[in-house]
Amino acid sequence: MEVWAYNGQVPGPTLRITLGDTLRVHFFNRLEQATTIHWHGVRLPNAMDGVPGVTQDAVPPGGSFLYEFTPKDAGTFWFHPHIRSSEQVERGLFGVLIVEEPDPTPFSRELVWVLDDWLLNRDGTLVEDFVTRHDLAHDGRWGNVLTMNGVPTPSVPVHPGERLRIRLINVANGRVFDPGFVGLPADTIAMDGMSLPESVRPSSLDFAPGNRVDLDVTIPLDAVGRTLEFRDHFARQQPLLARLVVSGEPAAPPTGTIARGSVPTWSGAAALEPSLELRLNARAGGPYGLEWTINDKIMRHETAESASTAHERHDAVYRLTIGRFAKLRFTNESARLHPMHMHGVFFKVLARDGVAVDEPAWRDTVLLRGRQTIDVGMVPLDEGDWMLHCHILEHAESGMMTLVHVGSERGHR
Ligand code: C2O
Ligand code: CU
Repeated sequence: MEVWAYNGQVPGPTLRITLGDTLRVHFFNRLEQATTIHWHGVRLPNAMDGVPGVTQDAVPPGGSFLYEFTPKDAGTFWFHPHIRSSEQVERGLFGVLIVEEPDPTPFSRELVWVLDDWLLNRDGTLVEDFVTRHDLAHDGRWGNVLTMNGVPTPSVPVHPGERLRIRLINVANGRVFDPGFVGLPADTIAMDGMSLPESVRPSSLDFAPGNRVDLDVTIPLDAVGRTLEFRDHFARQQPLLARLVVSGEPAAPPTGTIARGSVPTWSGAAALEPSLELRLNARAGGPYGLEWTINDKIMRHETAESASTAHERHDAVYRLTIGRFAKLRFTNESARLHPMHMHGVFFKVLARDGVAVDEPAWRDTVLLRGRQTIDVGMVPLDEGDWMLHCHILEHAESGMMTLVHVGSERGHR
């Protein structure tokens, strides 16, 4: 099957640096479409965020761009194009960025698992109809072949006694997973790259497009000769995603510590009035016949063709103040799923359907189910124009994006 790839591989290369390091990526576009690289979840200078018409011009065919930044946080991140991403990500443009904590960890080994789905024709070629009416009327494009690191249901050899950190990344256009091992408990130690104040063992996981989760798993000593299944429990058929094949000598994991986030408690924050209300819905119209809206407005990046000539600019629609607590209320007026993602900031879920919740995770993407309302709290710290959009790439492409300016109070118009 023909794919589009970073450095000739799908998934693209896993970039690994240590907190404090500067990442420098010389990017050359050999596609026939304009593109950019967005560093999903990374707090970086706004100019490096890879959003065409906002932080940079799209890189035209034959063009290049230097991405250079020092991530502010350790964790599991990923990168992908931010123009026509419904096509470019689906064709294979995604890769992982790991920012390691400087301290030693208690893991024998680390596995990086990129989950994806592909919509293939019967002859094994990619369905080249992107952003269809069907995708828009549903939860985006859901594929018929599931892969882990580009391979359907791979077998991964492990040793008994090994303590694994599994970094999971959902790069699918629209598919939500609920991944887990059958009969093997796994602790969640980080969500969207941010470490949790303590490990949790949830019975299910909303693992939506854009989300990352870091799992802490120890292979039982008596599992030698066995195969441990890793399945998705979101889809009714509970498809197999991968297998761990246990063999060999018992391993003793090294000693070290798991980094723990310092999470401020926001007692009373749930009761505050929202600073920003965002209603999610759809309407007829636009280039695809149906467009997804935020507060009845749409935003679209220029198309890849026009991008090589035109330089359209977007203005921020919403404003937040640096260092000031903000509460955003997402109200899903539709029956579809919307994993809402904001660039340049991490937030905590404060309430679901009006009921205050105490969720330990800092996240950059939260899944809204049909008709659901979710309140999130944040203290934006990084100046700039940051995208806020649905990470179902077809919904975003049709218009479900907006732009939030984070600035000092004085700068506000
Ligand atoms: Cu991974 Cu603006 O997105
Ligand atoms: Cu959506």
